[in-house]
Amino acid sequence: EAQATSGGAAETSGRVRSAALVGSKPGSPDWIKRTAARAMLRAVRFKDEDFLKPLVTVSCPYTNATPCNDHMDELARVIAERIEKRGGKPLLHGTPVVSDGETMGTPGMRYSLVSRDLIADCIECQHEAYMADGLITLGGCDKTIPGAIMPLLRNDSIGVFLYGGSILPGGPERNLDVISAFEAIGARSANRITDEQLFEIEKSACPGAGACAGAFTANTMATIAVALGLAVPYSAGHVASTYEGKVTENKKQDCRDTVDALFTCLERGITARQIATRKAFENAIVVAMALGGSTNAVLHVLALAHEAQVPLSIDEFHEIGSQVPLLGQFRPFSKYVMADLDRIGGVPVLMKHLLVNGFLHGDCLTCTGKTLEENLADIPDQLPAGQDVILPLDKPYAPPGRHILVLKGNLAPEGAVIKLSGKGLRRHQGPARVFDSESAAIDAILAGRIHKGDVLVIRYEGPAGAPGCPEMLSPSAALVGQGLGSDVALVTDGRFSGGSHGIMIGHVCPEAYVGGPIALLEEGDEIVIDIDALTINVAGLSSTEWERRKANWKPVLKPAHGLLAKYRMLVQPASRGAITTQAE
Ligand code: FES
Ligand code: MG
Repeated sequence: EAQATSGGAAETSGRVRSAALVGSKPGSPDWIKRTAARAMLRAVRFKDEDFLKPLVTVSCPYTNATPCNDHMDELARVIAERIEKRGGKPLLHGTPVVSDGETMGTPGMRYSLVSRDLIADCIECQHEAYMADGLITLGGCDKTIPGAIMPLLRNDSIGVFLYGGSILPGGPERNLDVISAFEAIGARSANRITDEQLFEIEKSACPGAGACAGAFTANTMATIAVALGLAVPYSAGHVASTYEGKVTENKKQDCRDTVDALFTCLERGITARQIATRKAFENAIVVAMALGGSTNAVLHVLALAHEAQVPLSIDEFHEIGSQVPLLGQFRPFSKYVMADLDRIGGVPVLMKHLLVNGFLHGDCLTCTGKTLEENLADIPDQLPAGQDVILPLDKPYAPPGRHILVLKGNLAPEGAVIKLSGKGLRRHQGPARVFDSESAAIDAILAGRIHKGDVLVIRYEGPAGAPGCPEMLSPSAALVGQGLGSDVALVTDGRFSGGSHGIMIGHVCPEAYVGGPIALLEEGDEIVIDIDALTINVAGLSSTEWERRKANWKPVLKPAHGLLAKYRMLVQPASRGAITTQAE
């Protein structure tokens, strides 16, 4: 039904369904019926010949509110020009954008994860309403990436995703990013830096357009888009803009390559679900884990698989991901940013190394019309010499099973996610310090009330509870800033920013709002995190004590109206990707 055909011969190759909007060809009965629609389209500069061209939706999450997406309008223009050149007709539209970096720590942050599904809905709405033939979706900031990939899969569209690219490193020594600014807050409160130093970081951390620079969520998801085959091979590594504030030539080339890939898919009838198969999802998880991606990848990959109707559980994510050594040396756990990966050949270099060593399925079809293996054919088998951005499989940054893991136990019967990024941590045991909101926890950290060994529990911050599962960076950044990053564990039903580091366990399921065990914790309960056993448990609580607490439990209700109220009604647990749509 979504792929309704023109009912007549396709006049231009790739015109698969837009005849429903504008008619199939002059003189045909459906042509007469569509006269009013063509009359309106002529007012937006459609000419006679345009009605016989494939229509391409260009979904552009432009906003001048955040560097991540500040250049999207220009990318959309380059894409539109190329579509015209290839004999198509672009239809442009916008979507909301919520920058985590800017909204984190404010009530507005509750809209961040919500925006992922809203963006997907906006794109679906526009593309399906206009019966366009092809779909190009742009994404820059964390949520605009999965939000832009989901609709490709949801309706099995013929479409390609393009990442806007990451930001260059900032500061006089080109070693700062927005995470430096977050960590500077904790450092200032601990008097480790001065007001002047804080201001210097604020002024120079973000030097232009582009998404956050490290292996945070945006770069993780952009890499996943390439590994899935839904984005052109070099697009994840190419940075957005120069220090002079111009969109890079590489990124403009990505725009043209993306359009060319789309036309290949249109000509050959290649749809998104033909590309994003179960094997492609396995590839995506492997590449994200080797890179050192963010915990949000778990959430978003589960949501993407749901849209693709590919069965994939959080346990399978763990099984696939924990076979993969950590090869990238990126921030937040190490030193490099995406621009450094690009310098040595980008994501394809990492993928080739994984492919020749048997970690990837090479026969997966991609948006270029070629297989994954064919896309990587010209890349040498060996990693480039004289670089340590990507380490070889035989000398990894960390062995398999030391990056993102899924833990279970009486505190998280349906799973929780920990990001180790190679940390040697095997066990952490300590008293629960319980907070019902992120802000209460931050106040306690900044006031010096959190001590070595504590387990900082932040609850009622889950998908339904907050609602919107706001992303956190401030608590872990404040702990790092105070020098407690390796001594205090953070446990939450909320999420962590991809820029976080420390001992962090997020996405605890079931969440507090629905009465999960995390809701029943009390100050001082002994929590045991055992990495070897993959468990997170509360020790020493008898079943009568659990029952007593359950009987007395009342949820903490955080008010929500409008979109947030709607979201609370629909959202499913983080262990299911916090999806808001049901299977068909
Ligand atoms: Fe947009 Fe980091 S805030 S990518
Ligand atoms: Mg984020």
